[in-house]
Parts: sequence; structure tokens; C-alpha cells
Amino acid sequence: MCGIVGYIGKKEAFPILIKGLKLLEYRGYDSAGLALQNGSLVVYRKKGKVAELEEFVLSQKHDGVIGIGHTRWATHGEPSDKNAHPHTSMNGLFTIVHNGIIENYAKLKDDLKEQGYTFKSETDTEVLSNLVEYFYSQDEAINAEMAVQLALSKVVGAYGIAVLCQAEPDKIIVARKGSPLVVGLGNGEYFIASDASPIVEFTNQVVYLNDEDIAVITKDSFTLKNVQNTPVTLKISHLNLEIGELDKGGFDHFMLKEIFEQPKTIEETFRGRLRPDYSEIVLGGLLNVFPKIQNADRIIIIGCGTSWHAALIGEYLLEEYAQIPVEVDYASEFRYRKPVIGKNDVVILISQSGETADTLAALHLAKEKGATVLGICNVVGSTLARETEAGVFTHAGIEIGVASTKAFTAQVTVLTMFALKLARARKTITQEEYSVLVRELAAIPEKGRQILLQSNDKIKAIAEKYKDAINSLYLGRGYLFPVALEGALKLKEISYIHAEGYAAGEMKHGPIALVDDNLPVIVVAPQDDYYEKIVSNIQEVKARKGNVIAIVTEGDKTLKEMVNDFIEIPASHPAVAPLLTVIPLQLLAYHIALMKGCNVDQPRNLAKSVTVE
Ligand code: G6P
Repeated sequence: MCGIVGYIGKKEAFPILIKGLKLLEYRGYDSAGLALQNGSLVVYRKKGKVAELEEFVLSQKHDGVIGIGHTRWATHGEPSDKNAHPHTSMNGLFTIVHNGIIENYAKLKDDLKEQGYTFKSETDTEVLSNLVEYFYSQDEAINAEMAVQLALSKVVGAYGIAVLCQAEPDKIIVARKGSPLVVGLGNGEYFIASDASPIVEFTNQVVYLNDEDIAVITKDSFTLKNVQNTPVTLKISHLNLEIGELDKGGFDHFMLKEIFEQPKTIEETFRGRLRPDYSEIVLGGLLNVFPKIQNADRIIIIGCGTSWHAALIGEYLLEEYAQIPVEVDYASEFRYRKPVIGKNDVVILISQSGETADTLAALHLAKEKGATVLGICNVVGSTLARETEAGVFTHAGIEIGVASTKAFTAQVTVLTMFALKLARARKTITQEEYSVLVRELAAIPEKGRQILLQSNDKIKAIAEKYKDAINSLYLGRGYLFPVALEGALKLKEISYIHAEGYAAGEMKHGPIALVDDNLPVIVVAPQDDYYEKIVSNIQEVKARKGNVIAIVTEGDKTLKEMVNDFIEIPASHPAVAPLLTVIPLQLLAYHIALMKGCNVDQPRNLAKSVTVE
């Protein structure tokens, strides 16, 4: 939620900041702004996309070698020019961009009002800028850094901030708690961003701030300490992100590019892990903790959104093959529902970004309770990756489309490898079963390519037929129940059509009441152990005149005759079928959203990385 950028050095800051904001726009895109320091400080803010801000700034003077910028996902106050960041304090001394939520902002605001402060916006961030100014004005001995520290000591909540001070114009002060910040180290220049994507073009040396770190940055120096003023050891990390990953690569949208990348990204997830002779699955990141996992009482898998759907597939895989009890929870529920967690539990946090606030809070809770805490994460250097004991990177490459696609299939690939490795170690499957499953997994990329090649046009035609639906129902059973949930989520996220995912067997307990000749019912129905059951469910829908769009196994004559529309996929083992069946559902959502004129990559009200509660 919300993207922050900053630059200090010798170059003109504006082009660097605006480009950075465009790369971070996936984090929020309802308004944007920036501040440039050039003798005096100029602030530019605009409701709408970064492109609108760019146009606005370009029509004015915009020099300066120091600046900060922000792209917003509204929390406090509607998207508007006045609520857009940066926010300047009442007397103009401090200007701040902020990602996160100041939970006690109302109380702080009242206290500041009593001190005579007035406010121009409805944001919690303006409260913070006034609070910093208030402390700064209390005593001449208090400098900007100290004022920021004092203000942050009064704050309850999350923040990633970049601060400019009018009286100390040669520096940017940054701090984080709960919201990510990365500083790129250049030669006589520094780059600040919420993630590394705006930095990679300029340097591959970065410092990831930890919670409660504060840094004072001038063009020649970078001083890092804790907000309580204790020194912090500087840990420089090396980025291995490619700039090429940040463009659309000839596709119309990032989402489409990412859908089509999946065969390749699944191969990346396999790399070095699936041995060429399939004899072994190597998960190096889990090596040290594997004995603990093998003997765990229980595995708890936690995530949000699409990552939670991957977790559900993980549950089915681990219980069936490794025969270990598994629970799956939404991070936002787990963190507050006082769960029973023991030292012999293994808690796996799944997160594409590694920065989702609820998932990180769940991680902290599980750690506190003494569980073994593992991560499945796509972003190297993210908070989740740094704070878990061990884990597996998904290596899907940067995902920019807000609706997750390739990160999901990479997560499911990791979970499948993990379940099979654990099953072998616990001797709950035979070597023969294991070999069959690993080969089936290894065959997925090729089958995925086939689906992408053969089905896209057909799916486009189906999308044309159903694009005006108001409601829709997605059904699946077994491993394909979470796929139905994911298909429904994709459609609602990007096309705004109401979509419900349901376990097909549960349909008769409610959703069947929705079925009429206007309702598209998308059924994931390949030929697996549930086939006959799901055929009956399809009959039930047809008997009530519902329109069935079925994902079927190539050559399935029965269903082809029974349903209104079908999309064929190659036969596969049920345990790996989610990796194939989800592809047509992603494409269907994409084409429907496009036909409805929706912004596929940046759907309304959503953000890619939810770093607030
Ligand atoms: C947001 C995104 C989803 C994502 C979810 C969890 O809602 O829009 O695409 O699945 O957050 O994000 P994470 O980075 O933790 O996987």
C-alpha cells in the first residue's frame, strides 16, 4: 500500500522520482505527489495516476537534486489533491511522505490542535509532519533527526517515511516500522524506495531498513541507527533483479505477460531443486530445519488473498501425501483469534511480496509462541524473507499486475515439491508413487505452454459471451476447490463482476438458489477421482438453466456435450492439476475485464502489497 521514492545526489531528481513512482504504482494509484528541494521546497500533488502528476509537474518549474515522492492507496481521507502526499507541517518546516497507518493519529491530532496546530487534510500523515515540527520547535538543541525520533516515539502503528526539513535542506531522513524501505547506495547519490524496482537501474547495492531503523542521508553520507538512538550495523545486500523484468515485454498488460510467463516461471521455481533424473527434490533453504519439520506435530499455513488459496492447496497435498495434520488460516484471523500454537508446530507463511502487514503480524505471533517459522516468498530481501527462520523463494520474478498469477503457480509449485519431499522423508509414499508425481510435476510447464497456445482465442470468445454477467459462480472439488476460489477472486478483482468460489458439493446448500439462465457457472471438471460427482453437480446446474463453462480434460466427450462452453486442458495427475486448471481461469478474467474496459493491471480500490491492516 502506497509507494515511496526519494533521491539525493547530483542528478535532477524529478525524472528519477517519477519513473520510480511509475514502477511502484502497483502499490497504490489513487493520487500521487512529490516534493523537490532547490533552495526552497516545492510540493506537487495530484489526484489520479502518476501520469497525471507527471503532466502537472512538467507544466511547471521542477528543478532540484533532492526530492521525495509518493503514490497513494487511500486509508485516511478520500483520494484528492489535498489528501495526496507529501504533507507539509503547518509552518512549512517538515514535508513527509508516508506508507502505513498511524493508529493513534486522532489523539495526536487533538493534542496538536490544543497547541494551536491547524490541518489542511484528513490524513494521519499530516499529523505526523506537524508532530515532528512541534518537537523541532520546542528547543533549539533539537535537530531534524531528533525531532523525527521524538515524534516516532509517540506513534502507534506502521510507517515507512521519508522526511525533508526546510531548515536542514541537504538531507533526507527515512525511517521504517512495519512498512518496507530500501536505500540504494550510489556514487555520491542515494536512492530511496518502498521496494528495489526503482533502484535497480542505478545501483545493485542496497540496504534494507529493519523495523525501527532511522537513517539520515546526505549526498555523501548514510548514517543508520535505531529510533531509540542505538547504533545499527549496516548490512549491504546485492540486488539481482533485471531491469528487463520491469517492462511489459510486448504484451498489452503486465497481467497478460505474467500469465504467459508461467511455464517459464515454474521452470525457474524448479531450478536446482528438481534433479534432472527426478531422484531427489532439493530445498536448500529448508536443510537445517528439515528434521524439525519431519517430526512436527502439525503444520499451519498462513497467507492472504491468492497466497491463502495456495495455502489451501498445500493443505490438501501435505495431508494426502505427507500425512501430517495441516491447518490453514487467513493471517488477519490468525493474528487476533488467539490460536493454540506449540513449540512442535511448524508455521509456514506464504506471501508474494513478503510485506503483507497481517502475514508479518502472524509471523511475529508464531515466533513468539516458539513455533518453527518458515516462509514461502517471492521477494528476496523482503521482511518475511528476513524474519523467518528458513524458507523457499518462489523465484517467479517481479510480479507487477495487481491480480496475482505467476506468483500463485510458483507458490503451488513450491508447496508441491515440499509435500513430496516431506512425504518421502516420512516414508508415507513409495518411491514409485513419488517418481510418478515428480514426473507429473516436471511435465507441467510443457502442458501449460500447450494451454496458452491453444486456448487463448477460444477463451476470448467465451469472455465475449459472458462479459455482461452481474454474478458468477466458480465450482471445484478436492485440489480444484481452491482453484475455483482463485478463479472467482481473479474475476471479481479485475472485472468487478460478483464471483463466488464454492466447493461444488456445497452448492446445494445455498448457491444453487442463484442459478438461473443468466448465471455463468464456471466448473473446474477434469477427469479425476471426483469426476462423476462433479458431472452430477453440472447436471444440477443445467437442470436449473444455468450456463456452464467447464474446464475439461482433452477428449472428454460427455462434458463437451453437456455444457454450454468448454476449455480443454491436457490430462494430468490430480495433485498437479491446480497448476494447469488455473490458467484458463486467469485468462477468462483477463479477457472479460479488458472487454469491460477495466484497468486490468491496476484494478480500482486494490493494491498489490497490503502493508496496512
Ligand atoms: C493483495 C494483492 C493480492 C495478494 C494479497 C496477498 O490483496 O492484491 O494479489 O494475493 O495481497 O499478498 P502477498 O504479497 O502477501 O502474497
